[in-house]
Amino acid sequence: MAQILNIDQAMEAALGLLRAGEVVAVPTETVYGLAGDATNGNAVAKIFEVKGRPRFNPLIAHVAGIAMAERIGVFDRLSRKLAEAFWPGPLTLVVPLAPDSGIHELAVAGLDTVALRMPQGFTAVLSGRLGHPLAAPSANSSGRISATTAPAVAADLGDRIPLIVDGGATQVGLESTIVKVEGERLRLLRPGGIAAELIEAAMGLPVRRDAGADVEAPGMLVSHYAPRAEVRLDAIEILPGEALLAFGPFRAARFEDAAIMLNLSPAGDIREAASNLFSYLQALDKEGVERIAVEPIPASGLGEAINDRLARAAAPRDTSGTAR
Ligand code: TXA
Ligand code: MG
Repeated sequence: MAQILNIDQAMEAALGLLRAGEVVAVPTETVYGLAGDATNGNAVAKIFEVKGRPRFNPLIAHVAGIAMAERIGVFDRLSRKLAEAFWPGPLTLVVPLAPDSGIHELAVAGLDTVALRMPQGFTAVLSGRLGHPLAAPSANSSGRISATTAPAVAADLGDRIPLIVDGGATQVGLESTIVKVEGERLRLLRPGGIAAELIEAAMGLPVRRDAGADVEAPGMLVSHYAPRAEVRLDAIEILPGEALLAFGPFRAARFEDAAIMLNLSPAGDIREAASNLFSYLQALDKEGVERIAVEPIPASGLGEAINDRLARAAAPRDTSGTAR
């Protein structure tokens, strides 16, 4: 079983394991990551194994700062401006891979681009101390709900990894927004913890959402973030026995019939809803209900990412009942 160490006491142990080619679960402001040295093929292979992640799905390289990022990726003017505006923070940039990046090819799944992010706090410091980028997907079994607390990581991956660094509940609660600069255009590959509107305001450019077949983040499989229970979206009436994931002050009809109810934000605050989304889905799922009904959630701001994750949680699964 994984050792769980408080964030204040975990740095040296995490470093030692990473230097030995091991993987470590680490907190970021978005969700917990399963980190390994991105330049070490064994470490990267372990990440894929532990998660049961398809090898064609590339990993984000987490860096200590812009200087490290620019040794790994080729930054055009707009990508640099994005990094300067939003790092450290929940923004991942996809840029061409630099010739001597040092990143193991398994980490980028053989692509000629790389996804880079400078997170806030522990994980950026850890990368700086290691002197290498950290490949880190979300710390969950492939297809499952991303972990936003150390106990959630332990419940899912605890018997497969040596260490979980406990930094408490993550602040944002949704994975990073992924953007790729194409010439003078910004393309949204994944909505996430920074609202696209904020990026548009900072850059004075529209963020395009019409992802082409080849540019969408390969990990954006339709069924993802899947709880065991079925998920029913935009519920305006609750059916007997359903669990209810509510939002805001106004309830769906017959909400009294719900087996259990959790409200993402009674005040209707979309930021609070984002930070509660994954842990509340997990909590409702634990009740063993057949279906989770979700009240409508506004589509703008962080609501775009929330609705994206919910749509994937609600998508049809394969016959084994697990996400593809
Ligand atoms: O907030 C986050 O982004 C978290 C924390 C741990 O940093 N990480 C995360 O990683 O969500 P993961 O592996 O669950 O999702 C990374 C996404 C996948 O959809 C993957 O396909 C995409 O990034 N991606 C990685 N490299 C890419 C590339 N070169 N081009 C396009 N998409 C890429
Ligand atoms: Mg993930």
